[in-house]
Amino acid sequence: MDTIEAIRVRHSVRQYSGRPIPEDVRSELERVIEERNQEDGISHVQIIYGDPACFDSFMNRNGRFDGVQNYIALVAKKQDGAMERLGYIGEELVLTAQKMGLNTCWVAGSFNRKACKAKVGSDQKLYAVIAIGYGMTRGKASKSKDFDAVSKTRRQEAADWYVRGVEAALLAPTAMNQQKFVFEQTGEMARLSTKFGFYTKLDKGIVRYHFEAASGHEVTLV
Ligand SMILES: Cc1cc2nc3c(=O)[nH]c(=O)nc-3n(C[C@H](O)[C@H](O)[C@H](O)COP(=O)(O)O)c2cc1C
Repeated sequence: MDTIEAIRVRHSVRQYSGRPIPEDVRSELERVIEERNQEDGISHVQIIYGDPACFDSFMNRNGRFDGVQNYIALVAKKQDGAMERLGYIGEELVLTAQKMGLNTCWVAGSFNRKACKAKVGSDQKLYAVIAIGYGMTRGKASKSKDFDAVSKTRRQEAADWYVRGVEAALLAPTAMNQQKFVFEQTGEMARLSTKFGFYTKLDKGIVRYHFEAASGHEVTLV
């Protein structure tokens, strides 16, 4: 499965089977995490296996999540731009996991922050987690906005690569499925801004990853 196919088939999954993640799959995820942490300089992303306590939260008493054993902890230094960078790194990990047959769900609210086993330095913050494992289902497609609702450049005036990028961005996970992002084509690049909303800075990094992966063109954040 390539990245484009992973973008198409990914949906949030909240119910997991107890099937453990095999060693070779763990090694690949850990390799990507290590590389991104090295390159980024401010992120301290970690993957934690076999820790159900993190999803045993008051927020989750209604059983929204079930069987979550593993999660990726999105930790970074507390500084401007950290959330956008974690969104970008986290979504690469989500799609890497999808390609290897795993399922995921971004979680910024419904988890037990205090029970989470990630190491968080005094100058760092745990911004969100991503549940990861073998889903009971593959999830299902969510309602999505139209192209023109998230693009200042009209579809008929846009380059093919830009259309591919926006369409991939429309398939990205966003907090509460809010999709409060706006793209604009600027020559051979695109600009991306977000409107006011919950966790839109994480969303910004996530949709940027989808756009760049599908279009092969760079996005500048405004
Ligand atoms: C930054 C972020 C935070 C999220 N937080 C939660 C959460 O706390 N609880 C939850 O059940 N889903 C959470 N989600 C999942 C979204 O609800 C989901 O991505 C959205 O409804 C679109 O569905 P899809 O991912 O299946 O396309 C979050 C997603 C993102 C991107």
